[in-house]
Amino acid sequence: MRSVRILFVCLGNICRSPTAEAVVRTMAAHEAPELTLEVDSAGTAGYHVGEPPDPRMQAAAARRGYELGALRARMIESGDFERFDLILAMDRQNLTVLQRRASETSRERVRLFLEFAGLGEPHEVPDPYYGGPNGFEEVLDLIERAARGLLRDLRQRTRAA
Ligand code: 4NP
Repeated sequence: MRSVRILFVCLGNICRSPTAEAVVRTMAAHEAPELTLEVDSAGTAGYHVGEPPDPRMQAAAARRGYELGALRARMIESGDFERFDLILAMDRQNLTVLQRRASETSRERVRLFLEFAGLGEPHEVPDPYYGGPNGFEEVLDLIERAARGLLRDLRQRTRAA
């Protein structure tokens, strides 16, 4: 069976989406080795293309065992909408950008990542870039929670297939 391809998308691809990529990759390796996943991340804006994740995000993630240092920011490109099975936005602003760019056939692949977290509204991972250090912990809390829900959902789908 071919792998499930998942793309995480935020604005700059240096805080939230690379963290989601690393958390899902790490968690899947430990907790769902039966799943074959390909995970990647991208930004809707190009301010930080080619850069590694924000050092504040890297440090907070490393304290929880997630290694972000090798990742580099890139922008979403049109081929992503065909290549990935799920394109998961961190907030509504990025969701809207993705929905506008998706074709009719790929639009249903575009969702909010926090739909998988099992929380009430709002379904958004807040942008931590201009906030204080607690913002990075909140990003990790929300992403870990949604990652667990996503893996649970994918396991069920795999079993049902
Ligand atoms: P991200 O955070 O979208 O989670 O990567 C941001 C990174 C950079 C900027 C905004 C948000 N920026 O304005 O440069």
